[in-house]
Amino acid sequence: MSCETCLQRVPADQIGDRILKTIDYGDGVDYCAARGIPLGRPDMDSTQLTEVKVKFAESCSFKDDPTPPYKLKASGGKVGRAVGVEIANRSDPKLAPRDCRQCVYLMQPTEVRRRYGWGLNLCMAKGELLPTNKLKGEATRCNIGIDASSVEPEMGVPVMTHENVRLLGVYGTATEVTPVDAARSRLSALPDPRLHVSDKPVDAEDQEQGIRAWRGLKHPDFPELFETVWLPVYDPEWSGFSDKERRKIPVSGDDTHPELYADYQNLLYYIGADLTSGLSPVLVGPAGTGKTEFYRFLAWTCQLPFDRISVTNSTELADIIGKHLVTVDAVSGEAVTEWVNGRIPEAIQTPGVLCIDEPNLGPKDVMEAIRPIIDSNKQLVLDQDRGQIIMRHWHRFLGFAMNPSWDYRYQGTSDMNEADLNRMTSFAVDFPQSEVERDIIINFCNAQGYAISNERVDAIIKLTEDLRPATDPTNGTLSFSWGMRSMLKTALSTRYKTLEESVRSALADNLDPTERSQIMGYVKTIL
Ligand SMILES: Nc1ncnc2c1ncn2[C@@H]1O[C@H](COP(=O)(O)OP(=O)(O)O)[C@@H](O)[C@H]1O
Ligand SMILES: [Mg+2]
Repeated sequence: MSCETCLQRVPADQIGDRILKTIDYGDGVDYCAARGIPLGRPDMDSTQLTEVKVKFAESCSFKDDPTPPYKLKASGGKVGRAVGVEIANRSDPKLAPRDCRQCVYLMQPTEVRRRYGWGLNLCMAKGELLPTNKLKGEATRCNIGIDASSVEPEMGVPVMTHENVRLLGVYGTATEVTPVDAARSRLSALPDPRLHVSDKPVDAEDQEQGIRAWRGLKHPDFPELFETVWLPVYDPEWSGFSDKERRKIPVSGDDTHPELYADYQNLLYYIGADLTSGLSPVLVGPAGTGKTEFYRFLAWTCQLPFDRISVTNSTELADIIGKHLVTVDAVSGEAVTEWVNGRIPEAIQTPGVLCIDEPNLGPKDVMEAIRPIIDSNKQLVLDQDRGQIIMRHWHRFLGFAMNPSWDYRYQGTSDMNEADLNRMTSFAVDFPQSEVERDIIINFCNAQGYAISNERVDAIIKLTEDLRPATDPTNGTLSFSWGMRSMLKTALSTRYKTLEESVRSALADNLDPTERSQIMGYVKTIL
């Protein structure tokens, strides 16, 4: 007894045909047409997939129904259930979402794929997978869903997250809560921007442009004195994003953990103000102060694709601006020259965040090519390609990050000329206070499933207090920078190593012997 021989089974390689085009279960997973469910998960091996089919067949009432419906079920295909939250029918019909994508209970396909392997939407309240083209119809039938933009804090709408979803046992225990998930639940993570309730009305034009909500930011010290900075929150499923761009949108809980970013300098407000006014900000500060990370955090907040170009002295104009390629025309056999856009013209035509890291480290011609897009004018003229004009999308936020050129540790970095700096707005970033650093360390370790002890965090903070003056560029004796990256690396390795060993592997063994013994001297004094 197994689904294998059942007439209702649509083999994996045939799912893409006919009406089932919108179903994406991943490689090798069959579809049960009668129940509308996947017969396994793509990360299962063939033995496990066989087992799933046996288990399903044992409890199936459609067995061998000879008339294959082969019809895409909009719902009814339960793959799991919600636990730990009370789900009730909607109290007020006005709260109904028009489309499941506006519902507080929807898990986006990107997230579903990351967790379970299936490239479909998941209704967390009902535990059902939903193809994108069924989201409107499903919302009309549903009496549970709640429109995210209508939720007020006092309404008591239950907050449901992936942790409330339990997959059916047949899909394997791999998806049961893991220690890492348990650790994550303790985090002071920022709320998912996909659930952000708009701070002002979203009009039809916004929606057409892909904007799902607006986030209003107030001046941190004088909220009444200044105008609100408005950042867009895009709908990651907007059809204007290509799949490639969509994959670049940072997701809560991904490897870089954008939700754990601590905005201790209110950069979202200050840099957001510049960006939405069409100015080009540059973050200036020592290595490891979170300059690059901020731009990723911005992209996450706005649910925009994140692109980063790291300029080095070997960066070539052709990579970032473009080049002519000579190819042979397949029909005529003649050589034809074709212009291929580089990374900047490629990126700036669509909404997103583009971080250009260390523009001052590149060869002169690279800086010269970047210069025109620093200007608030909204276009890039490609002299190299017969003056082709590339228009910048109004929501392609362009920001820079640099180490300060006055800092001797970054010698070799050419000063940007005054004209460049005049075109930009600058913001000096510095290391956070130790309480913030403490939170960041604890959060990152938790996210890796490591409950770091207070003593270990204390030791790293103490070491930092000793090291910072010694690494100060103007009067310190050490030539490296002890930034968040080194602290996090050290903290994470204290899971398996002593503090001494951790500092060595995070940084010290990379240094010259004099500096190494100096830093290890500091480590010894705090032990
Ligand atoms: N404010 C912050 N909140 C959370 N993590 C941070 C923050 N700043 C830095 N980090 C962590 O430190 C690492 C280094 O930051 P990064 O942005 O690469 O620094 P920079 O670009 O200034 O050299 C990041 O990967 C991130 O994990
Ligand atoms: Mg950086």
